[in-house]
Amino acid sequence: MINYKDLGLVNTREMFKKAVDGGYAIPAFNFNNMEQLQAIIMAAAETKSPVILQVSKGARQYANQTLLRYMAEGAVEYAKELGWENPQIVLHLDHGDSFETCKSCIDMGFSSVMIDGSHLPYEENVALTKRVVEYAHQFDVTVEGELGVLAGVEDEVSAAESHYTKPEEVVDFVTKTGCDSLAISIGTSHGAFKFTPEQCTLDPETGRLLPPPLAFDVLAAIEQQLPGFPIVLHGSSSVPQDEVDTINKYGGALKAAVGIPEEQLRKASKSAVCKINIDSDSRLAMTAAVREVFANKPAEFDPRKYLGPARDNMKKLYIHKIKEVLGSDNKA
Ligand code: G3H
Ligand code: 13P
Ligand code: ZN
Repeated sequence: MINYKDLGLVNTREMFKKAVDGGYAIPAFNFNNMEQLQAIIMAAAETKSPVILQVSKGARQYANQTLLRYMAEGAVEYAKELGWENPQIVLHLDHGDSFETCKSCIDMGFSSVMIDGSHLPYEENVALTKRVVEYAHQFDVTVEGELGVLAGVEDEVSAAESHYTKPEEVVDFVTKTGCDSLAISIGTSHGAFKFTPEQCTLDPETGRLLPPPLAFDVLAAIEQQLPGFPIVLHGSSSVPQDEVDTINKYGGALKAAVGIPEEQLRKASKSAVCKINIDSDSRLAMTAAVREVFANKPAEFDPRKYLGPARDNMKKLYIHKIKEVLGSDNKA
């Protein structure tokens, strides 16, 4: 049993309280490899932003859970080397799918876990989440639960359509489970294709697809039920069109990729939404940079020469999110 506190990591409790009170949101960035992790830590250290490092099921399969955990431990020391005296870094399991997965992460030093029972019948979601909370809280590890279903792919759980969180269920869920934060469904979804063209309107000036707005009325009703309780938004990539254009220009085929407009995420960050999950945007930034190098320098074969620019591009993206969208800079 390794306690995350011995690794210099923190849980989300105080971080979320400050974010809700201060009207900003903490970035939760997924990482799968060293370049992503370096970019996240450089961005957080440079902006003095608290940050959540997320490990998904796909990441655990791709990179190995143990290795990722040790990388996060290294990230704390790296942050200090970069001049961040008191790094506020959470290591979080994203979309935990069972009690056993959550326990295994808690036992090896994660400071926060999500148990995603959103696809289960309500009472089963309550029972599973409560079981994880009871175990996690013995070690002061914080737990994110989820109510409502996001459309699209949630790791290996996929849903054809979204089901908004029912505001009338949230008090009962939080009270019965004791979870520390709640992921909700108000119209976001995972991936780079969040809405079909039919769901969007066409901007006559730019020719771009304009997605439908998030259900801020549902968010407001949830906040009314749970004043000040930390709310989480998954599927919050904005799918920057300049990255999509770069990918397509250099041989990619991302047609009609569309995300959540930053304006809406700015608005959400000022509410009880205190954790915003971003993964796809980082994938796009990385892919755009790599494609550009491959197209312009076809003789290049040193991975550092294309992963380096990819890292730079991700760092730029993370800093932009922190400073211009979530408002979490200078909070750590
Ligand atoms: O929630 C979904 C995340 O983007 C992680 O996806 O399992 O492919 O790493 P992944
Ligand atoms: P995006 O696919 O919108 O980046 O969402 C990531 C996410 O919610 C991870 O849990
Ligand atoms: Zn998610």
